[in-house]
Amino acid sequence: MKDAAPQTIFLKDYTPFGFEIDMVHLTFRLHPERTRVISRIAFRSNPNAKDADFFLHGEELTLIWAKVDGADVTPRMEDNGLRCAVPDRSFIWEAEVEINPGANTALEGLYMSNGMYCTQCEAEGFRKITYYPDRPDVMAPFEVRIEGDEKVLLSNGNPGTTGDGFAEWHDPWPKPAYLFALVAGDLVNHPDRFETKSGRDVELNIWVRPGDEGKCAFGMEALKASMRWDEDVYGREYDLDIFNIVAVDDFNMGAMENKGLNIFNSSCVLASPETSTDGNFERIEAIIAHEYFHNWTGNRITCRDWFQLCLKEGLTVFRDAQFTSVMRSEPVKRIGDVIDLRARQFREDNGPLAHPVRPESFVEINNFYTATVYEKGAELIRMLKTLVGDAAYSKAVDLYFERHDGDAATIEDWLKVFEDATGRDLTQFKRWYEQAGTPRVNVSEEYQDGTFTLHFEQSTPPTPGQDVKDTRVIPIAVGLLSPNGDEVVPTQVLEMTGAKQSFAFDGLASRPVPSILRGFSAPVILERESDNAERAFLFAHDTDPFNKWEAGRALARDGLLAMIRDGAGPDDAYLDAIEAVARDDSLDPAFRALAMGLPSQEDLAQSLYEAGGTPDPQAIWDALETLKQAQAQKMQDLATRLYAQYQVDAPYAPNAEQSGARALANAALGLISRLDGGALAQKQYDTADNMTQQLAGLSCLLKAGNGDAAVALFYEQWKEDRLVIDKWFSLQVIMADPDKAAQTAQTLTKHPDFTMKNPNRFRATLGALAMNTAGFHHASGEGYKVLADWLIKLDPLNPQTTARMCSAFETWRRFDAARQAKIAAELDRILAQPNLSRDTTEMVTRIRG
Ligand code: ARG
Ligand code: ZN
Repeated sequence: MKDAAPQTIFLKDYTPFGFEIDMVHLTFRLHPERTRVISRIAFRSNPNAKDADFFLHGEELTLIWAKVDGADVTPRMEDNGLRCAVPDRSFIWEAEVEINPGANTALEGLYMSNGMYCTQCEAEGFRKITYYPDRPDVMAPFEVRIEGDEKVLLSNGNPGTTGDGFAEWHDPWPKPAYLFALVAGDLVNHPDRFETKSGRDVELNIWVRPGDEGKCAFGMEALKASMRWDEDVYGREYDLDIFNIVAVDDFNMGAMENKGLNIFNSSCVLASPETSTDGNFERIEAIIAHEYFHNWTGNRITCRDWFQLCLKEGLTVFRDAQFTSVMRSEPVKRIGDVIDLRARQFREDNGPLAHPVRPESFVEINNFYTATVYEKGAELIRMLKTLVGDAAYSKAVDLYFERHDGDAATIEDWLKVFEDATGRDLTQFKRWYEQAGTPRVNVSEEYQDGTFTLHFEQSTPPTPGQDVKDTRVIPIAVGLLSPNGDEVVPTQVLEMTGAKQSFAFDGLASRPVPSILRGFSAPVILERESDNAERAFLFAHDTDPFNKWEAGRALARDGLLAMIRDGAGPDDAYLDAIEAVARDDSLDPAFRALAMGLPSQEDLAQSLYEAGGTPDPQAIWDALETLKQAQAQKMQDLATRLYAQYQVDAPYAPNAEQSGARALANAALGLISRLDGGALAQKQYDTADNMTQQLAGLSCLLKAGNGDAAVALFYEQWKEDRLVIDKWFSLQVIMADPDKAAQTAQTLTKHPDFTMKNPNRFRATLGALAMNTAGFHHASGEGYKVLADWLIKLDPLNPQTTARMCSAFETWRRFDAARQAKIAAELDRILAQPNLSRDTTEMVTRIRG
């Protein structure tokens, strides 16, 4: 499986393939260990290509025979594929290969999951199925015949002839190989139908293992809502007679947008009130939408090469966020996204793995399915929309679909439609795609004779391989409040294009309080001197919900930093302000629950490091505990009131309203449990009729140190449900005290239900350890050691998941010398493993620096 010499691939080296494909015909003779794949592919030369080297990718394939125009040929076999002499005109390539899906633990290509066959071809998995030009700019219609005994045989496109032991599928839309999919198994379906706006009747199915039928209804509603929304908002209609979704237990990522046959990690589609939390429901709705939206942004218009990954992913994440904002609460979604962006993308952008949204080189493309490509990629689309305005955004996107339907496109193509539709020059905006790192925007202000001036200065620190950063265009949404809390200047977008730039507002009666970067209008770190009084004022009065939340967050963060750095006690200004917001029943309960949350350990470590300090993970943990305890004391009466007031009496529904109420009541329960030893949490646990309430009860019990009985009961109740048992594994690790986290994870790996072969279970145990920040970074180094041990064990089985999880170590340069030495030793130990995968080698090398 190991390649001889890992090669770096560069964007600048792009050249088109020498051939085009008119038609692909594939026959699969399924067998768990010896599947045969017979391909028949009609090639002709590509008039736009200079060289006509006939190289087909292929890995882990046994070639049985190959023919060109019906005559046997003997191709030259190479490490990653084959070369063959071919005629200088149209010709037919045919080959038969044998593959072993049963032995495929990497979950890339054709593999088996609980007895069913399934595929994952993005990014480069198709080359493990047959010899093919496995690159996204080679697009073709596919005809597929599957021969097997399984009850259900699925592939892309529309169904063709079906008979005993076989099924045929035809996908008329030319697609790259990464969108190919095949599923075969004894599955059952949850069916429905959808009529598109032009009257096309589409059959919809969610296919699951028998027993999971009852967990499909929510996903199906989400699918239909997504289909309608894409028609209404983007004018995009579905284009086949059938749309299938399949749930698979063993899957490296969340889900995959294969044309007409989306394949989902079962954790991202199966849902029921008894087994799924409110958070699970929201995430499932978003992922179903995301994969469906890819039908246009990804499939009809795909990427020319993998450097353009953000073209489909950034845009599709942006679209799914828009969808969630209308399905649920827009401010709550935005705040949640920014929390996530800071925790994952800022962390990446300010460490050794920093890379541009459109990278310029890679060794293993699977290592670039990152928060930067996805989430920062989505932020760029959002900024573009802010800069050009909603109407111009729609016009440009319409032009994109009109001009590029059927294309494998680039970021240049994307920006060009915006330039053509708006007449704007986007040269400076393009730097957002090309330069890594999070810009710092420093702001100071001045007031004189009724004129208020904001002075901005931007800079971006160097990132690996990019020492010098150019000035970017930054949309900064600003509003001004008068000292009595009225908004005197409503939100306007300041367009910063210079390194230093000032903006003046005149005609003001008194010095205003500015609300800057409203809605988080750009993915930057805002640096601004402020004091508690002003933050409390904005927390109370800002009309922009994001900045209102942000002011509370800043207040909490400043207080915590003082506790950590100077040994200060909990800050009364924060405690008073948070209580006032929590008490205000005119505010959305979901918003109040978010406002009651504290910055994460990761967030505080970033802030400390940013300010030139060395974060001490234990001190951060202690400060958070102390502040939460103080909050619990101070808000004792209010917490009791909120808990009672926001109990949901109606039958469980996973909608925004009910989940907001539960979030607030459970935030209150978190405080109450710090004082009552978990008595109320136990009561909630015992009487819960849905997973949100049950898990909230359990986590409060664990926090209170009284969770043993509930942990045992929970396992007994749910041992047959693998997705719930994942929660059981991860919660125990996440809630463990820092001293016990590594041991808890290690002990759970000995549980009979632990398996390395299932990525969900592996992440639930070892990924959870990395999420327990103070436990993972425990001074003993045990956390580092346990994770490294298991990554070393997983790498030979599943390089992709191993490599992703290495990012747990990416923050290592922030810490003290002792921790750095311990982490460096683990990284070196991983690197020293014989036959370490290309994926993991690249990640650990980049992290090590
Ligand atoms: N395109 C998929 C999505 O974002 C992700 C698949 C990535 N898979 C991988 N092996 N890198 O919906
Ligand atoms: Zn995607």
